[in-house]
Amino acid sequence: MSTPLNSPTASSRPEPEWLIEDPYIDTDLGVLLTGKEAQINLIRRQGATGDSSLLVRKHYVPRKVSEKGTLEALGVQRASTFRNDVEYREGRHFRKSRDRRAVQQMSAHGKRLLQSRWTGHESTVLRTLWDAGLNVPFPVSYNEESLVMEYLGAESGAAPQLASARLKKHELERALHQLIDGVRIMVRAGWVHGDLSAFNVLWWQDQLWFIDFPQALDLAANPQGLNCLHRDIVNVATWFGRRGLNVDPEEIFADLLADLG
Ligand SMILES: Nc1ncnc2c1ncn2[C@@H]1O[C@H](COP(=O)(O)OP(=O)(O)OP(=O)(O)O)[C@@H](O)[C@H]1O
Ligand SMILES: [Mg+2]
Repeated sequence: MSTPLNSPTASSRPEPEWLIEDPYIDTDLGVLLTGKEAQINLIRRQGATGDSSLLVRKHYVPRKVSEKGTLEALGVQRASTFRNDVEYREGRHFRKSRDRRAVQQMSAHGKRLLQSRWTGHESTVLRTLWDAGLNVPFPVSYNEESLVMEYLGAESGAAPQLASARLKKHELERALHQLIDGVRIMVRAGWVHGDLSAFNVLWWQDQLWFIDFPQALDLAANPQGLNCLHRDIVNVATWFGRRGLNVDPEEIFADLLADLG
């Protein structure tokens, strides 16, 4: 069962035109990429009226269960950041005592619950940021194992990661501006990416697109929020700096904070 994301509110961006309604048939076109945390498959979705679109399915790869009780055993790879995520949502997770017990005992039901919180978290953040106008893939649906979202790329190939996009100097400068503008949108929407790098932004149609949000942090609620924002900025600023751009992470950080008011 896939969970469609909340229907948009009156004020939110209209949903993309390419969305295909049920009933549809999905054809798996194969593995696009295998990351450290997830496997990305390309899917062709064909609707009843013959319309079709390309999507990706991000399947969270469960690691070998080595130590019962660890978050890694659930396929939750970034355990430290996930723990933060759990911390700040403590107040509202697993209200049902049956669910709490299932998670504590790591029963099959408990694992499914945690896993779907993980995919659900990435979907929710993507949708919030998409509504805020950020360049992120539109999240279509999720279940406990995977997230289906907009594909950034063409029939002939996926959009490259910034790290491998081989941009010219003037494009790099554009990318840096778009990156700072993008982080500003995230911060205003109350989110910190938490794993921002040249591997987690794609360059597509002359624009920067942000991906990979399972560890995103709520800036106001998470005590680590500002630290993570700073780390994100230093990470990407260092990357741009090595490519010859004059970039001062502290200035960018201060500017983002000033913007928060
Ligand atoms: N919507 C998308 N459209 C096109 N390519 C995508 C999309 N989502 C992910 N990818 C590709 O798959 C790669 C891995 O995705 P993602 O970063 O979300 O997962 P990950 O588990 O963090 O993998 P890694 O640990 O390697 O970063 C991305 O770097 C990108 O190249
Ligand atoms: Mg990634």
